[in-house]
Order: sequence, then structure tokens, then C-alpha cells
Amino acid sequence: MPDPFDFEIPKCYAVMGNPIGHSKSPAIHSQFAQQCGIELDYTAVQVDPGGFAQAVEHFRAAGGGGLNVTVPFKVEAFKLAGRLSDRADQAGAVNTLKFGEEELYGDNTDGVGLLRDLQSNLGVDLKGKSILILGAGGAVRGILAPLYESAKRIVIANRTVSRAQDLARHFSHPSGVIIEACGFDALSGQQFDVVLNATAASLEGQVPPIPVDIFAQRALAYDLMYADKPTPFMVWSQTHGASQAEDGLGMLVEQAAESFHLWHGQRPQTGPVIQALRAP
Ligand code: ATR
Repeated sequence: MPDPFDFEIPKCYAVMGNPIGHSKSPAIHSQFAQQCGIELDYTAVQVDPGGFAQAVEHFRAAGGGGLNVTVPFKVEAFKLAGRLSDRADQAGAVNTLKFGEEELYGDNTDGVGLLRDLQSNLGVDLKGKSILILGAGGAVRGILAPLYESAKRIVIANRTVSRAQDLARHFSHPSGVIIEACGFDALSGQQFDVVLNATAASLEGQVPPIPVDIFAQRALAYDLMYADKPTPFMVWSQTHGASQAEDGLGMLVEQAAESFHLWHGQRPQTGPVIQALRAP
């Protein structure tokens, strides 16, 4: 007689953050699940400041399989995880949690997400390139290590210079490139092949005050933010000599694919999902 209990109850997944209203993660993960023939319940959960640990525990107790974590909880998720991937440990921030039998496993897929978008989707070879990172907040922690492995020069410029200096100290390694740190003023007269905007300025409709001649020939401007229309940084970059300006939608989909792989053991195709999300 067939076992009447021979079925699996689909696990629940979610992204937690604040604000979370416009998150594209549920749409991305449901398209991945469809591709891979997996039944999936993935929602977006807005969590109050101070309520993150409780929300995670509640979600786990209710049958959750894992979580994506976004602003402003990535450092809290790092502290909550009982076990960390090397890249999460290095970043000091976690964007993916997996619930195991006992301990909470924390990973950070932001860096690999950015790298895949740059290299595989946009065809950018970072070897020997000089990279300028604008901003020194949580978003930068996840992306520094993978960039560090290929670039010739990395400069972090931030409104609050001490935050850039802290990051540069934390990530510099005697055997690698020296990561430099400065304020926006000190960029005067310098040119870069890749300029990454990881500040929250776009959210306020602003562009960090960087020199107008910041782009080297054939430079790429990349905003870690994404929106339905080009971000203020993308528009500014195109009018000031960048040959290409991209938003962070590809990175979002790539980091999601890496989380999906961690949870389900399958690697979905990202191209069709990026295309679908860009469709008007
Ligand atoms: P996240 O986790 O998204 O990186 P964060 O830690 O609050 O968020 O960091 C936001 C980043 O955007 C910081 O580098 C911040 O600069 P400060 O460290 O000086 O606060 C930067 N930022 C925010 N608004 C900005 C603006 N209008 N112009 C330039 N930089 C801005």
C-alpha cells in the first residue's frame, strides 16, 4: 500500500527588509522555481527595526527554509548566523540565511552577483582595471572581496571619509592591491575604468559630488540601485563621458540565483528572468 504521507510540504522562503514594498525578489524566485519545476512559496516581509531576530525565529518555526535579507538588516543577520560562508565572514554582512537542522547558516551572494553581472552579462573584464567605489555602507562590504581579486586599483570614496578608511583597512591585504580611501574632493584629476555607485544618493534623486572628468576612455558607470527608469547616477554618467551606464537589476537577479542554488541545489538561468523584468 502506498505511504499516504509520501509527499513533501513545500518550504517557505522570504525576503526581509525595511522598506520592502517594491522588492522584485518574489517575482525573481517564482520565475526560477518555475524554470526548475520546484513548488515554492516566497514572499516579501517588512520587518520593524529591532524586530529582526524575532521575525527570523518566527519564520523558521513556521516552516521556513531560508531567507534573503536586505537593507537594513544585513549586519544583524551576520550576527545571528551560527555558521558563515567564508565570503559572508569576510564581508561582515549576510544577505542569505539557510535554516538547517540546528544552526542558522549565513552567506553573502552580493559580491558574486555583481561579478557575474559585470563579467557574464555585460562582458566586462576587470583584470587590470581601475575601479572607483562610491559609498562605504553595507552594500560595499559584500562586493569588495571579489573585486579585489581582479582589479589593478580600487579606490573607495565616501561622504564620511572615516567609513571609507575603515573599509579599506578591513579589506586590504599585504599580497593584494592596496585599497585607497578618500572623500569626493580628493578624486579631482583622477580617471577610472569602472565607477560603481553604492551610495544611497539615488534614493534622494541625487548624485555624489564627483569630478565631471572622472571617466577614463570606454568607462562603465554602474549603479547598484535599480529603478524602472535610468537612475540619476546613470543619467549623470552618460552626460559626463561614460560609454556605458547600467543599473543593478542584473546583480539583483544574479545574487538571487546564487541564493536559490544554496537553498535548492539547482542553478536557474538568469538571462530570461532579467529580460522579463526589463520588459515594459
Ligand atoms: P547601505 O547598506 O545601502 O550601503 P548605508 O550603510 O546607510 O546603506 O550607506 C549608505 C551610503 O550612501 C553611505 O556611504 C552614505 O554616506 P555616509 O557614510 O557619509 O553616510 C552614502 N550616502 C547617502 N546619501 C548620500 C548622498 N546624498 N550623497 C552621497 N553619499 C550618500
